Amino acid sequence: FAGDWKFVWASPSIETLPPMAGIEVAFAGRSNVGKSSLINALTGRNALARTSHTPGRTQELIFFDGPDSAGLRLVDMPGYGYASAPKTQVASWTKLIHQFLLGRATLARVYVLIDARHGIKDVDQDVLKTLDKSAVSYQVVLTKADQVKRAELEKCISETTAALAKHPAAFPDILVTSSRSGAGMPELRAAMVRLLRE
Ligand code: GTP
Ligand code: MG
Repeated sequence: FAGDWKFVWASPSIETLPPMAGIEVAFAGRSNVGKSSLINALTGRNALARTSHTPGRTQELIFFDGPDSAGLRLVDMPGYGYASAPKTQVASWTKLIHQFLLGRATLARVYVLIDARHGIKDVDQDVLKTLDKSAVSYQVVLTKADQVKRAELEKCISETTAALAKHPAAFPDILVTSSRSGAGMPELRAAMVRLLRE
């Protein structure tokens, strides 16, 4: 995992995706949940993906290739459910995300990020429903675990686990992470390395 990650492509629309290559892992989640930060923490690169404390930072599908020709490609995505952005903008990002999740043959895994402070929302459930219809394997990742107390984290885990019961296609276990402390990063990296070997 360590090594030379590089930006390869940015797609504002489903018509402008890069040619399919390697094994793609995508990160989905509400605006500001920490998708871009997670990519930076995983790759050990502070500013590979652009982050911001204001929602709506990532506005395209952004593709990053891993070191050498290992074949791993990470896909950062715009957030969904961002209430203050113009409605047409939110609708077009949401459509782009759902189209990509449903129709990309090289997409091997999707991580659906949920902020441990806020828990699972209806817009997250919509994305899980889309993933149920696609052939891709997916798993829920709680982010910003450093921001909540143990009891709050446990509550979020049990509520999310209950919600996942409606989605038998999902991995039943939930990964708990913090891009700030690095918690959960070794587990996520290991899971992706396993994907490459499958
Ligand atoms: P959009 O691209 O706008 O959809 O957002 P995003 O999901 O890519 O979020 P981003 O990575 O830009 O992070 C949003 C904010 O959350 C930033 O201010 C980050 O520093 C902060 N953040 C991300 N991960 C963590 C974390 O694990 N812990 C803490 N405390 N803050 C985090
Ligand atoms: Mg982002």
